[in-house]
Amino acid sequence: MEREAVLVGIDVGTTKVCALIGEFNRDGSLTIVGKGAVPSTGIKRGLVNNIEQTVHSIGEAIEHAERLSGYKIDRAFVGVAGQQVESQNSRGAVAVSGHSREVSREDINRATEVARAISIPSNREVLHVIPRGFIVDGQEGVKDPLGMSAIRLEIETHIVTGSATAVQNLRKCVEAAGVKIDELVVSALASGETVVSETERDLGVAVADMGAGTIDLALFVDGSPFHTAVLPVGGANVTNDVAIGLKTSLQVAEELKVRHGTCDLGSLDDDETISVSVLGEPAGRSVSRLDVCRIIEARMRETFELLKAEMDNAGRGMLPAGLVLTGGAAQLAGAAELGREVLEMPVRVAAPSNVGGLVDNLLTPAYSTSIGLLLWGARRVVAEEPARYESAPALGGLGRLRDALRSLFP
Ligand SMILES: Nc1ncnc2c1ncn2[C@@H]1O[C@H](COP(=O)(O)OP(=O)(O)OP(=O)(O)O)[C@@H](O)[C@H]1O
Ligand SMILES: [Mg+2]
Repeated sequence: MEREAVLVGIDVGTTKVCALIGEFNRDGSLTIVGKGAVPSTGIKRGLVNNIEQTVHSIGEAIEHAERLSGYKIDRAFVGVAGQQVESQNSRGAVAVSGHSREVSREDINRATEVARAISIPSNREVLHVIPRGFIVDGQEGVKDPLGMSAIRLEIETHIVTGSATAVQNLRKCVEAAGVKIDELVVSALASGETVVSETERDLGVAVADMGAGTIDLALFVDGSPFHTAVLPVGGANVTNDVAIGLKTSLQVAEELKVRHGTCDLGSLDDDETISVSVLGEPAGRSVSRLDVCRIIEARMRETFELLKAEMDNAGRGMLPAGLVLTGGAAQLAGAAELGREVLEMPVRVAAPSNVGGLVDNLLTPAYSTSIGLLLWGARRVVAEEPARYESAPALGGLGRLRDALRSLFP
């Protein structure tokens, strides 16, 4: 298979930092050729809280990926989370310029600039301005107006912002690890690239990436995001509750949750017990599994209620394809069923698929963001100035990638 492009994604998560090197082949398929996933120590709730530790984790992840692949990483698409991610939709209109009155790239850029010129507080930074659609002389729902005859062009955009200082801290860490940032990508949008189909995005679908510290949420309709947000809860809250409830360490609570946890209380026997090591009790103790799972279920129920409230505000009725759960914490047994009950909509758990190469352990919900970053990058290369990549290829030529990837993202 002829290789067309090599892209790098780095997901700086609360529990792990994962760097992936992916080769896109001529037929648009993706092969992972390098990966490094190391525990993350300097991140809390998706935000950098220790620069030195974060730089170190990123450096280690990169080194592993480089060693496996033989490539040298010098630039990457980087995931952003953290509770300060917010979004809004904005429109911009311009008169179509030129004698021919045909919509040009320049008109689209000017309309985008107008849409972007919303007032954003100085403590926030714009991360994405995503075109959602165009209105051409009052005709709605135009996806690509280029070349259309028109007098007035209006663009609808989805604008995602983050806390300027939080974004700056992440940027600092990645750059200190010797990597240039191709683009900072909000985690939920990256995950969305791998766990939902174009058809679901067109219909209306939500993606919730439940990590340890945050839930990264993106709602799509008509093929594009219309709401992006981050909720400051995740799997770590569940573990924490178990640790407090059982007076045990976080490590023990985590293992209990993963091995014995479920949200499906109906599946449990009243008398099933599990043995737990408890702080200050060397002999350990045996506890009721049902009691442990009641703690887990209660927190997960509350988490889904938070999700529901967020989705209600944004437009839960616009999501006939339901909610797709991903992220490490989505692996809890019974999560989809509980989600369905609380949210009253279809809920499924999803992981990356259709990826080849070094995918051991990667095809699980915890790596949706990492793999999604590569797909996001590929879409970018297709949609935007491929010249930018050709002139300064990170790791390889991008030659005909644009054509090759059209089959991936028609
Ligand atoms: N089998 C499992 N059952 C339940 N929870 C699990 C399981 N495996 C992992 N988890 C939970 O998944 C979480 C980690 O998920 P993930 O790797 O997606 O987080 P992250 O990306 O590092 O964090 P974040 O996205 O919040 O910054 C932890 O809270 C962990 O307890
Ligand atoms: Mg994550």
